Amino acid sequence: MGLLDHLLGFNTAFMEWLKPELPPLFSKMTLIDKFLFLVIHTIDRHYPWHRLPVFLGLVYLEVRRGLHQRYSLINVGQAPMSIRFNPSEIPYRTANGEFNDPFNSDAGEQGSYFGRNLAPSPNYDNKKSKSNPSLNDPHPTLVATKLLARKKLVDNGTQFNMLAGAWIQFMIHDWVDHEEDMDSPQVELVAPSSVSSACPLKSYKFHPTKQYFVDNYEVPIGHKNIRTPWWDGSVIYGNNSKTLAKVRTFKDGKLKIGDNGLLQISLEDGLPISGDIRNSWVGVSLLQILFIKEHNAICDKIKSSHPHYSDEQLYRYARLVVAAVIAKVHTIDWTVELLKMDTLYVGMRANWYGILGKKFKDAFGHTGSQLLSGYIGMRKPENHGVPYSLTEDFVGVYRMHSLLPDSITLRNINDTTSKANKIPQIENEIPTANLIHVDGEKLLTKVGFDALLVSMGHQSSGALTLWNYPTWMRELIPQDVDTKDRENLVDLPSLEIYRDRERHVPRYNEFRRKLLMVPIKNWKDLTDDEDTIATLHEVYGNNVELMDLLVGLMAEKKIKGYAISETAFYIFLLMASRRLEADRFFTSEFNDEVYTKEGLDWVNNTESLKDVLTRHYKHIIDQWINPDISAFSVWSADAPGKNLIPILFRIP
Ligand code: HEM
Repeated sequence: MGLLDHLLGFNTAFMEWLKPELPPLFSKMTLIDKFLFLVIHTIDRHYPWHRLPVFLGLVYLEVRRGLHQRYSLINVGQAPMSIRFNPSEIPYRTANGEFNDPFNSDAGEQGSYFGRNLAPSPNYDNKKSKSNPSLNDPHPTLVATKLLARKKLVDNGTQFNMLAGAWIQFMIHDWVDHEEDMDSPQVELVAPSSVSSACPLKSYKFHPTKQYFVDNYEVPIGHKNIRTPWWDGSVIYGNNSKTLAKVRTFKDGKLKIGDNGLLQISLEDGLPISGDIRNSWVGVSLLQILFIKEHNAICDKIKSSHPHYSDEQLYRYARLVVAAVIAKVHTIDWTVELLKMDTLYVGMRANWYGILGKKFKDAFGHTGSQLLSGYIGMRKPENHGVPYSLTEDFVGVYRMHSLLPDSITLRNINDTTSKANKIPQIENEIPTANLIHVDGEKLLTKVGFDALLVSMGHQSSGALTLWNYPTWMRELIPQDVDTKDRENLVDLPSLEIYRDRERHVPRYNEFRRKLLMVPIKNWKDLTDDEDTIATLHEVYGNNVELMDLLVGLMAEKKIKGYAISETAFYIFLLMASRRLEADRFFTSEFNDEVYTKEGLDWVNNTESLKDVLTRHYKHIIDQWINPDISAFSVWSADAPGKNLIPILFRIP
């Protein structure tokens, strides 16, 4: 600590009174940030922000986000500055994500490195060694069997439906996928005898994550992202020019879609044609179909005003618009349903529109202040001095396979007698395992888009909690990068435990400490549930430091209205803004010159998934969803009641 800190008493009675558990980052902070940290830390310990009136909760979140922007972004393996270019010469999203950051043309391209929010753990103490002594402590299959495997499906009630569950996978397939090491021998995990009788696979093999030695003292090893991390719609357009060429018709800017209104099937390899189809299922295909239609409708709209535009121009404009519509739906619709509390409702809308709101922004434009007018349309992109990427920690908190149920409840949408509360009759149950990969697409042709959409709209997703990881994913056929089924099945929950350890993502308690949160001291700090405590004890003994990130995220007591843990939320808080503010197409280039007037209006007039669905499937929305609810909540749910207290003054 510096002299100034001493003078101001950070080492003395004040600190003694606070008794904070200072995170490792504290010593690196500026004086003012130390002060800000102590304020949020005191709130964390004495009166959590989510119980504060909305406006105070927002101040807390803004302060916390600022600290994370300054201390929770670590560059891995990318040159902080690289080739500059003139953005006006490339006013469109490229096929592989390069040429977005005007000061660093490579940032966010396919094959760039995952960054980090938190310093790796355990440290990489020997640059030449790939070994990591804690990989099997305790055995990943033991953790998966005792703590993750589904006993009985727990769902999210009416808050979050299966469209919401598929949506986040749709986003994951836009953002992240780790490159595997195809040259090193496969890793084999053999179930310990104590649990093997309860494991569908007694042993299985998989490829390790590919490691690159990068010249960085703090993080000497990097992993590459084979998807473009920008919010650029690559789940529909692909991550490189080869896939892009496959999905385009090269006529009027449009994308391919089957005559039956589903994904077109390639005559070459029998696979569905879309940007990213690896390890996918019909839930994701459904959203791909929706946004292909959206893309094609935007092409028509722009062409109607600019009949001379070429195929290439129309494609480029439509892609910009689709990516922005997806980002907007995610920000002000999906996330609002995921984190259902007034503070987040205001906060997420503020990310897009600023605290002055939509009406003000529509009328007067962007004020120049992010706080007042949001990230969208800011004068310049902001990466906080760290080249844009998504991070290892981000991947760790997005491990949400428990959202998937054991089966999809198929509804009969032709039964006109059963419209009470818009709930269609149940026709049958289709095992989710039958809806994945190519077989899933075949089944979709029988079930039909409309029936699947309504069925998913009416079905709650699985809750993110312990003992809720789908059993069918314990013997899953994974796919290779060419979307071919692999020979070796995997036990996905244990593989996920292994992956976080292999990639040196801190375990839960260290994750919290590094994320400026109060760590837990014992199991009771995590949960009140006696069964959970007993099993945690059985697996990890008394050592709370050993608990894996995924287990902690699932076990943590949730904030009222939250479908995810608070620990995961802080990574979202930082990275959701970063995806917007670091991208020139959401900031300096969000204007009608780059998007066209028609394109910009399209984005500005779309507020929700329901708006997009209504454009293409109006008959379904009119018939099967209750009014005034989000398309991400269960479609028969009641609309929330009116609250006369101004939202900023409400107490959650
Ligand atoms: C039927 C649906 C799904 C299938 C078949 C599937 C399958 C897989 C497979 C095989 C992997 C690679 C595991 C590895 O080698 O490390 C994976 C990774 C992953 N999945 Fe899923 N998954 C599905 C749904 C979801 C959902 C709903 C989410 C929700 C967020 C999700 C999030 C992730 C994440 C974050 C990763 C890690 C990506 C990376 O390592 O870069 N998946 N999934």
